[in-house]
Amino acid sequence: MSSSVKLVAFSGSSRKESFNTKLLVQAVAAARAVGAEVTVVELAAYDMPIYDGDDEAASGLPAGAVAFKKLLRESDGILIASPEYNSAYSALLKNAIDWASRSGKDEPPGSVFAGKFAGILSASPGALGGLRGLFALRELLQNLGVTVLPSMQAVGQAMTAFNDDGTLKDEKTAAGVAGVAGGLVSTLQKIKA
Ligand SMILES: Cc1cc2nc3c(=O)[nH]c(=O)nc-3n(C[C@H](O)[C@H](O)[C@H](O)COP(=O)(O)O)c2cc1C
Repeated sequence: MSSSVKLVAFSGSSRKESFNTKLLVQAVAAARAVGAEVTVVELAAYDMPIYDGDDEAASGLPAGAVAFKKLLRESDGILIASPEYNSAYSALLKNAIDWASRSGKDEPPGSVFAGKFAGILSASPGALGGLRGLFALRELLQNLGVTVLPSMQAVGQAMTAFNDDGTLKDEKTAAGVAGVAGGLVSTLQKIKA
């Protein structure tokens, strides 16, 4: 029997009431419901200061980046919900990806990403739901060798989109989120079968 699909999931926002973290929680539940093992990573809790080449040359990768890379290396796929900041992804997310793309001993740069699959989501108080940021994130991940699933979900009007329990009010939107997560898991299940 094939092993279960392993995903790493993270939000590009560290804000306490983050809409994207709420969205990620919904996507993670959907992925687990179809059999994935999901490790949720709180990016801000990892020791990953703003990338500086001099620091890296002097001290190598910080402990948080080493730990984050290990999780990525051991995963089959990645689920991300990121805010759109000025038409792109957040600095928190980019910094984590930058650190994780750096080579360690006996590995080429970007090797923890190459060959992985990803599902991407966003939420924003605006009408487009952060969709422009998702196109930027898609390009970034694809340049690292990640296959980003064609379907993605941007949740607009996020101030009023969630129920008090964090679920999405609109069924079609909830189905879209579940579709991104479920599509990622089923794609990987077929590959691993
Ligand atoms: C610096 C900055 C730039 C932003 N740029 C955009 C933007 O381009 N498009 C958008 O829809 N929202 C933009 N926003 C609003 C964010 O979508 C909003 O703050 C959102 O709640 C952040 O996500 P979070 O709730 O997960 O923390 C911006 C917010 C900040 C702080």
